[in-house]
Amino acid sequence: MKDEKNEDIFPKHFFWGASTAAHQVEGGNHNQWSVWELAHASELAQSAHRRLSWMPNWEEIKDQAEEPENYVSGTGVEHYARYKQDIALLSELNLNAFRFGVEWSRIEPSPGKWNQEAIEHYKLYFAELRARKIEPFLNLWHWTSPVWFEEKGGFEKRENVKYFERFVKKVAEELLDDVAYVITLNEPNNYASISYLLGRWPPQKKNPLLFFRVYWNLMCAHRAAYSILKKHKPSVQVGCAPNLSNIQAKRPHSILDEVSTKCMRYFWNWWFLRRIRKYQDFIGVNYYFSDYYTGFGKMKNPSVPLNDAGFYMEPEGLYPLLLRVWDRFHKPIIITENGLADHKDQYRQWWIENTVIAMERALSEGVDLRGYLHWSLLDNFEWDFGWWPKYGLVAVDRKTMKRTIRPSARWFAKWIERNR
Ligand code: BGC
Repeated sequence: MKDEKNEDIFPKHFFWGASTAAHQVEGGNHNQWSVWELAHASELAQSAHRRLSWMPNWEEIKDQAEEPENYVSGTGVEHYARYKQDIALLSELNLNAFRFGVEWSRIEPSPGKWNQEAIEHYKLYFAELRARKIEPFLNLWHWTSPVWFEEKGGFEKRENVKYFERFVKKVAEELLDDVAYVITLNEPNNYASISYLLGRWPPQKKNPLLFFRVYWNLMCAHRAAYSILKKHKPSVQVGCAPNLSNIQAKRPHSILDEVSTKCMRYFWNWWFLRRIRKYQDFIGVNYYFSDYYTGFGKMKNPSVPLNDAGFYMEPEGLYPLLLRVWDRFHKPIIITENGLADHKDQYRQWWIENTVIAMERALSEGVDLRGYLHWSLLDNFEWDFGWWPKYGLVAVDRKTMKRTIRPSARWFAKWIERNR
């Protein structure tokens, strides 16, 4: 990679950062997801062979994947207690931005009752970031909700959006002073599909009607949150972080594959973004996949290279995706997540190098790209996969909670230093 060139291409105030989510790192959370984990850990361990043994690294992960403990977020990586140490790691890695969550179930453990201690904790958290000149990207909802909210029907019911609004109002009143960027929702498309179409995540329903209702209500929740935040602090920059995929036709000259690709792009990438286009200041892009479609909506990706989670890896697919997002919406873009599960750290540097090239290409063609937040800062709890996938720039030993910077992250830190 030609380092000298990048200096000119990346804007001076580009955000080079990392991303996390409260439930995946904090530890000690009690929400609808943690309740589900405890109820389903044994079942997930028992079905691991059936679900996961096709993966190339099955032999390496099998001990963990067949262990119920793997499926419990529990103490997390104690980020709630160790946040100062973790924020210091961001500085050590030369990062100047950080995306993290404020956990709704902590702030509002029962309806309308606020936990002032948690609010004060997050204030100190932001102050720590500010002291280190790291730009906070506050995320409001990353798939976890208070148990009481879920018991009322969660986002399945339109009338429940008012509870989310009340939470957003509280955050606006208490926590916005030190924050310039807010992300409302993480990947509403992934949540609605995996929880309500595939039935894999809580509340494990397979119901297209509910899927659509939840997706719609999340869209309403985003719009409402946008208005509340802007009313409270007009200068705050608000966006959403959908999972966007570089969707391509397997056979570019096949009309069927092209039509299939267009439909999938619309369904997965654009439907939600189009509906919130007047309610966002920037577009968050969570990019992990290039997906190739053939026939009637059948996905057929190349079989290599695969990451530890069995996902086909094409980091350069970010480039055409960025062009398409820019072309459609003409709004500043921030890559709010991008990364891979790679416990041996064998692909991470390659992935980041190719991602940087993809971003350079997009920037040089006029895309208003403002930042890159790698997923993730720390190894963390990977939802229904549990603890074995390792996404961290920093490895975490969960027995000792020791943090160790991975070689790829050291390389990335040096690269940022040279090119900033
Ligand atoms: C989610 C993260 C998750 C990551 C890796 C993203 O879709 O937002 O919470 O850890 O993917 O699978």
